[in-house]
Amino acid sequence: MWTRKSLQQLIKEKLSDYLFIVVSNRQPYVHIFKKGNIECQRGAGGVITALDPVMQVCDGIWVAYGNGEADRKVTDAQGKVRVPPQNPAYTLKRIWLTRAEEEGYYYGYSNEALWPLCHTVFQRPIFNDEDWQYYIKVNQKFAEAVAQEIGGKKAFVFIQDYHFTLLPKFLKELLGNQVILAHFWHIPWPSYEAFRICPQRKEILEGLLFNDLLGFHIRYHCDNFLETVDRELEAKIDRERFSVIKQGHETIIRPYPISVDFEGINDIAQSNKVKEAEINLRQEFGLTNHKVLLGLDRIDYTKGIPERISAIDLLLKVHPELKQKIVFVQMGELSRLHISKYKALNDELNALVEEINWKHQEQDWKPIILVRRHLSFYELLGFYKMGDVCIVSSLHDGMNLVAKEFLSSRFDEKGVLVLSQFTGASRELTDAILINPYDLQQFAEALWQALILPEDEVKRRNSKMRSIIQQNNIYRWAGKIISELLKFEFKE
Ligand code: G6P
Repeated sequence: MWTRKSLQQLIKEKLSDYLFIVVSNRQPYVHIFKKGNIECQRGAGGVITALDPVMQVCDGIWVAYGNGEADRKVTDAQGKVRVPPQNPAYTLKRIWLTRAEEEGYYYGYSNEALWPLCHTVFQRPIFNDEDWQYYIKVNQKFAEAVAQEIGGKKAFVFIQDYHFTLLPKFLKELLGNQVILAHFWHIPWPSYEAFRICPQRKEILEGLLFNDLLGFHIRYHCDNFLETVDRELEAKIDRERFSVIKQGHETIIRPYPISVDFEGINDIAQSNKVKEAEINLRQEFGLTNHKVLLGLDRIDYTKGIPERISAIDLLLKVHPELKQKIVFVQMGELSRLHISKYKALNDELNALVEEINWKHQEQDWKPIILVRRHLSFYELLGFYKMGDVCIVSSLHDGMNLVAKEFLSSRFDEKGVLVLSQFTGASRELTDAILINPYDLQQFAEALWQALILPEDEVKRRNSKMRSIIQQNNIYRWAGKIISELLKFEFKE
């Protein structure tokens, strides 16, 4: 089984002669002002959990957008700072973006064009040429920064996500055989039919095919990518090697399902701090003998949050005996608010919760509590611990780590996972109650089934799913990608 230690061992043995560089939009550490002082916070999420320990062992360089308000205060003239703050072991190189660049590259092309393009949720993408020009410019800026760090050395570069489709091309143009490139695509790759509307589709595909290794969460996304290349470009697809050869260069395509730090979550979930956090949260929300249903998401239109609320509404209509007995708590962190669709979704959620609470409320009981705030890690695990049912109803999702985090934290093997069949996670977690979030009747019925599922059946299912996550953990994700990367040899 892959562990943090075995991953670090692999890096020590195999990667020590080379430079290892990670590129992502979000940085692993951010510096902010707090009560007049500068504080350094570690980012959340699977990529940082997996790659931070890797970087610490190989003393690599992590290149990312410096978006923290105090970031510039702690970096040198090249935007560099050693991290983690208590035990500096690698370099974080921050790229500074102007407001126009952030608008065009991040909000614009990345999140108003590529995000809705790749998530098949019938949200029309906006392809704005000015955004695209900024996207090119920022990809170039990152490439130059990476090239500067590499100098005359040989380096493995591991690129994250849809913000950097052109970066592989710019890097190979600048550095040629000095670099071996892997790229992981964290969101779905849609069907050709959906992707072909993109005016910049050729440039994007060509950019990605400068990678040596390109990873997706599931085989289905790999197949969609190959089909898209097949229809759009003159390139050879090798079905046996599962690769694309374009102008003599081969890109290996592979599925690597991302995951969570199962052991870490499972251990911390049993701590007193988490117990306390659970008690505090129950008190805050007035949860006494209620059965608790949970939702936890970035407020994003791909997550199916309105659908979830409507399913609670229907559940209460069909089963009025549940009134005063259940509470649905939706926790959501605000996200990408400068984009009008995200703002509109927030307003829609407020109105919907208000309407449904009004319809069903009795005495001082309301069925839905909507909270928008960030939870600390202990609070997060305490939150999961409250749940009799955890609802993940994404309309489309590359993987979805809430589902995996919830199960990893439930060392008691309790709590039923209701999971959208349109998440990558549903491929592994087949013992969840699977739903089509567009089918309201089925969704409400699934919630009912989740509430009445016998305890031994819940335990049986959770134990199975937990051992799957324990095996397919986040260190395996990183270990598999890096092992594949190490098979490539630097050409002279
Ligand atoms: C998705 C993307 C990530 C992104 C995250 C949060 O999971 O794949 O690249 O970092 O959402 O979005 P944000 O725009 O806040 O970084």
